Amino acid sequence: MNKTWIIGGLVLVAAAALGWMNYGPGSRTATTANASVNVPELSGSTAEGAGLFKQFCVECHGENGGGADKGPPLIHKYYEPNHHSDQAFIVATLYGARQHHWQFGNMKPVEGISEDEVVKIITYVRAVQRANGIK
Ligand code: HEC
Repeated sequence: MNKTWIIGGLVLVAAAALGWMNYGPGSRTATTANASVNVPELSGSTAEGAGLFKQFCVECHGENGGGADKGPPLIHKYYEPNHHSDQAFIVATLYGARQHHWQFGNMKPVEGISEDEVVKIITYVRAVQRANGIK
């Protein structure tokens, strides 16, 4: 084994470690986004919506809709009711959405969810948005 190979290997390991720190779970962007979400008191349909959100959306949109490494925060000015109506939420969930605001790729249609369930999720997301000054 010659020296160049060893040094090359070390550089690769260091690069992988840095990449993990930037993009791995608990990456800086994800935690900052989560930390900044105020969660209002939830009851009735907003609480039900929160449970459905955890089941169907949290993987990509993060805890409390604060964003994750696979998708954007929904608690964001882009998604205020005037810019993305409730209908836009229904369409995105049932039919998917093309990448346009972010760099996460397209959102695929969410499988196994009903329109009624999406409506409950919207009630929840709007409540969290309002608690964060997004109206
Ligand atoms: C597999 C990942 C994934 C899941 C699961 C997911 N989304 Fe998305 N969603 C995305 C990505 C990525 C985008 C960003 C598209 C872009 O670049 O604007 C997005 C965008 C959206 C948008 C904006 C659509 C538009 O018209 O711009 C809404 C609303 C939305 N998601 C709601 C939801 C809801 C509600 C759920 C759960 C029922 C959900 N998403 C589940 C990945 C996901």
